Amino acid sequence: MPAFVESSDIRGGHELARPRLSQPLQYSGSLDSYSYSDLTPVIGREYQDLQITDLLGSKDSDQLFRDLAVTISERGVVFLRNQEVAPEQMRIFGEKLTSLAGCPESSGLHVHPLTEEGSELGDQISVISSAKQKKGGGLTHQLNDTSRFASVGWHSDITFEPVPSDYAMLKIHTLPKTGGDTLWASGYEVYDRLSPEMAAFLERLTATHDAKFFHEEAARLGNPLRKGIRGSPLNQGDELTAVHPVIRTNPVTGWKSVFVNKGFTRRINGVTKDESDMLLHYLFNLVTQNHDAQVRFKWNKNDIAIWDNRATWHTATYDYEGTRTGDRVCSLGEAPYLDVQSKSRRQALGERD
Ligand code: SIN
Repeated sequence: MPAFVESSDIRGGHELARPRLSQPLQYSGSLDSYSYSDLTPVIGREYQDLQITDLLGSKDSDQLFRDLAVTISERGVVFLRNQEVAPEQMRIFGEKLTSLAGCPESSGLHVHPLTEEGSELGDQISVISSAKQKKGGGLTHQLNDTSRFASVGWHSDITFEPVPSDYAMLKIHTLPKTGGDTLWASGYEVYDRLSPEMAAFLERLTATHDAKFFHEEAARLGNPLRKGIRGSPLNQGDELTAVHPVIRTNPVTGWKSVFVNKGFTRRINGVTKDESDMLLHYLFNLVTQNHDAQVRFKWNKNDIAIWDNRATWHTATYDYEGTRTGDRVCSLGEAPYLDVQSKSRRQALGERD
């Protein structure tokens, strides 16, 4: 790790939450026997026959997990169809994935500030539920409001935490007849669409992420906000605010990604408010208006998506009647940092600009 700690080309990070990787992970080929298809050139891979329970039970499971982490981090999101897996197995899987991908010692699974104390599935499973969304107001109300652009929902998970998420895993087990698709977009690809001048400018900046609206949401739902340790000693209290680099390096791939999102990023620091609004508007447009940087997933019952929150955004689609419910596990990675020497995805893969 000394290379990471001492380099003057590293911006951001926090000594308590540094990744345990001193260089990117390399894919070893252990998943090659599973058939898959890449859903777009830049983001998304679907495995046809990979079962999470097989990975959990395998004698080579560490290598399989490491290769799966590399694949998720490179492709942004991986889809696994029809998984017979219980919430407790998802929890074990999430812990093993983040750990083998080199998360800091101090990082565990996240406890969402809105998770009810003593909830049936435990603190580390968030229930994603259309019924709960109807009960909520504020943000969740906006998401269902068809007089607003549906793109209001694009976000990366929990970036208001000083130590945000590396991986998240969602299983949808109850579905409406149609609708309720989820979309992901690639932060690597959006970085690659910046001019070198704009990229160099943004690399010097940080942004403030804020989820103070969860205070209102907690009051509306009648649950006290979770103020204790939420998966990392750096994530506690009721501030729900963090400052992160605008461009970050993903330690698993070594690639740069844009790291601001519509859900939680309120302000780019060090520039005027108007400049910040203009820059954020531009960066958010790169995410929402480039459908060739996105992948859209149509869920079947018990499908699972696992994505890298450091390098993607996602949004659900609130276009359905009826019930849609699932379980989500979200692990914590490192405190975001930028290694100025790291590469863009296209550079690393030798693709043209
Ligand atoms: C989420 O935003 O993490 C949930 C996405 C979904 O419900 O499809």
